Amino acid sequence: MASCENLFKPLQVGPVTVRNRIASSAHVTNFGVDGCPTERHAYYLAEKSKGGIGLIIMEAIRVHPTTHPGPKAIGGYNQRALPGLKMVVEMVHHYGAKIFLQLLHMGRQTVSTETYQPLWAPSAIPCPTKKEIPHAMTREEIGEVVEGFAYSTKLAKDAGFDGVEIHGAHGYLIQQFMSPFSNKRTDEYGGSMENRLRFAREVIDAVREAAGTGMAVGIRLSGDEFSDGGLTLDDMQEIVPLLAGAGKLDFINVSHCNYNGLSFATMIPDMHFPFAPFGYLAAGIKQVVPDVPVFTVGRIVDPLQAEQIIADHQADMVCMTRATLCDPELPNKARSGRLDEIRNCVGCNQGCVGMMHRGFPITCLQNPTVGREKELGIGTLRPASQPKKVVVIGGGPAGLEAARVAALRGHRVVLLEKRSELGGQLIAAASIPCRQEIGGVYRFLSLELQRLGVEVRLGVTATADSVMAENPDVVVVATGSVPVLPEYEGSGSAQLATPNDVALGIVDVGQRVMVVDDDGHYRATSVAEYLADQGKEVRIVTPRSVEGSDIVLISWITQHQRLRNLGVKIMTGTVVREVNGSTVTLEDVYAGERWEVEGVDSIVVAGLRQAEDQLFHTLRGRGAKVVAVGDCVAPRYALEAIREGHLAARQI
Ligand SMILES: Cc1cc2nc3c(=O)[nH]c(=O)nc-3n(C[C@H](O)[C@H](O)[C@H](O)COP(=O)(O)O)c2cc1C
Ligand code: SF4
Repeated sequence: MASCENLFKPLQVGPVTVRNRIASSAHVTNFGVDGCPTERHAYYLAEKSKGGIGLIIMEAIRVHPTTHPGPKAIGGYNQRALPGLKMVVEMVHHYGAKIFLQLLHMGRQTVSTETYQPLWAPSAIPCPTKKEIPHAMTREEIGEVVEGFAYSTKLAKDAGFDGVEIHGAHGYLIQQFMSPFSNKRTDEYGGSMENRLRFAREVIDAVREAAGTGMAVGIRLSGDEFSDGGLTLDDMQEIVPLLAGAGKLDFINVSHCNYNGLSFATMIPDMHFPFAPFGYLAAGIKQVVPDVPVFTVGRIVDPLQAEQIIADHQADMVCMTRATLCDPELPNKARSGRLDEIRNCVGCNQGCVGMMHRGFPITCLQNPTVGREKELGIGTLRPASQPKKVVVIGGGPAGLEAARVAALRGHRVVLLEKRSELGGQLIAAASIPCRQEIGGVYRFLSLELQRLGVEVRLGVTATADSVMAENPDVVVVATGSVPVLPEYEGSGSAQLATPNDVALGIVDVGQRVMVVDDDGHYRATSVAEYLADQGKEVRIVTPRSVEGSDIVLISWITQHQRLRNLGVKIMTGTVVREVNGSTVTLEDVYAGERWEVEGVDSIVVAGLRQAEDQLFHTLRGRGAKVVAVGDCVAPRYALEAIREGHLAARQI
């Protein structure tokens, strides 16, 4: 059995002893109400503590009103958040983890429609992504924000936090001052390195003083801004010893990037990035401050990889943030050698940052208990008082999760799947090389069914009679959905196909392919990428304002880059109107202008789907309790399917 012995050695972070080397770095949850933390925060973070994590860095609190983007974020500039923060600390401590609080001013990297205040920044230069021109801070305003950091530190101390992390990364205010990319001041806060570091040093000193003894004080920094004219690893190797000198900092948490195009896309790297792509940055910082604990972050999901990072002295602490969001029990499972039982984060960015950026509370595509730990968390699964015979029809994500949860509760579960393998529509999604990792979702669930003794029958087409012949107490129908191809006007001829047909190699789409993105998700864009990668001439046509419009920006950016690099043409605000032979007539949705594209061999349409609900309706009234979950209720995505499968199995 592979061991993680280094990963489970305690780490001294200033005055704080952390029980192991696994941390969860700060992440906004949108669980806040009225700018205050809630019970939801407390249960969510306590779940990670229960799962065995060493250190939690709680999401950023806002040190000043000029950086408070709405009521779901936490304000740290008055006393209102104190009771909620205390509750969080108590619950996390109860299960043994230490907890630090992140302190943040976003500077220009937000918008005033969120803060209701002009943005404050070192210079009146807009953020490349947010585009709003900020106000160049006066000396008095700089002093006010420094005081804000101190005030929030005091709040953290009063709430019982073990430490604070100053957010000096991701292009936020402190980094804006440090970097020539965003700081063009000519006073004592701009120009030379010494001057650009002045604000950071003032903040560190003020925070240190407010923290007093007994609390750890550290900083999160970008090891590289990945921006022309911005800070590089070389710069940071010079800067970090200057900031951390004389014991001023108890840890350095090395992240990377700012909000500048492709740099922004690296912040929360998705499945298109390799594992641990930025570990070299932490290793580079470790070289220059060997005596200060250095944290690393970024798509580290496998405890064995984390173990290697620690064993190789690349870093002292490994942040496994989404990994422990997806499976909060990862540390305990790794510690007890149950590596196969870990539900690995697949880097889809759909439930976590995807929801966060849309303004919703975070969740996880694979773990529907996120944010609902009080009702659904560890230890809440009631064993069945009377084990029942449960027949699940359909081995897609909804059926697999329903079968898993029902089996965990002690029911006798039989799963019937008409295909020769489990996974449902995720099989097609994972057949596309750039989306392969999504297959981890059904591989994990399939392994769990095996472990839990679920009887899986493949290649079985269920009918109402064959299902009832099983004498089930409960039938869970998870029969999914089928695509509906449109009927375009005209004489037709260019072949119509679905993304799944392409992904599974069922059709030959020819050389010139039009991909219709009526879906906004990955179905169209990933197929377009796949086909273009094979050297085909690909056009995406979408009625929306961008292709893949529902893909979170952080992931959309790199996908767009890949599509463009592969020569994919993208036509937005456009629909297909007619198909005549290989000529396709397109129309601008809003202006009504029409034009023709000639020589189209195939049109791949990611659009309407229809629920496969016949079996559900036939089974009702046949004696057993029948519930439907996932796409056969209404066609959506894996996230909704897994959530419904999970919740339904809890009700059995
Ligand atoms: C939903 C979400 C919100 C985040 N919010 C913050 C934040 O408030 N402060 C911060 O420093 N990093 C934030 N991050 C970045 C994470 O701390 C971390 O650097 C990133 O998720 C990569 O680590 P991972 O691959 O272990 O998840 C956020 C990440 C996610 C997924
Ligand atoms: S939603 Fe996707 S990326 Fe986010 S934690 Fe879950 S599996 Fe990982």
